[in-house]
Amino acid sequence: MYTKKVMDHFQNPRNMGEIEGASGVGTVGNAKCGDIMRIYLDIEDEIIKDVKFKTFGCGAAVATSSMATELVKGKTVKEAMEVTNKAVMEALDGLPRAKVHCSLLAEEALQAALWDYAKKNGIVIEGLVEPK
Ligand code: FES
Ligand code: FES
Repeated sequence: MYTKKVMDHFQNPRNMGEIEGASGVGTVGNAKCGDIMRIYLDIEDEIIKDVKFKTFGCGAAVATSSMATELVKGKTVKEAMEVTNKAVMEALDGLPRAKVHCSLLAEEALQAALWDYAKKNGIVIEGLVEPK
């Protein structure tokens, strides 16, 4: 049911934890399953120097947060903004249909963290929309 990559990121999640005094923090929840995800970004000169996550949720949510953090590490803010749930799923070689919403949580948490960063610094990131 789950690909090798999903199992790997679930069993050995990358970048789990938190960043004290993070440049941006985004927390999102899924109303249906009740899972919660939080992403911390450490940004310097528009580059994501470090990223950590905490997920209170299912295995697919853990795996997608782990992969999402891997995908944005070292990237620019603009590049990170373009990391969609589709990109995260592709990097994991796919997810079962019923678990697609878990990858959406990762995308939303990332966007929310970027939004928080932009707000704190009084900048506008083109194309970024305010999280719900
Ligand atoms: Fe709890 Fe899946 S949401 S086990
Ligand atoms: Fe809700 Fe996975 S079951 S995030």
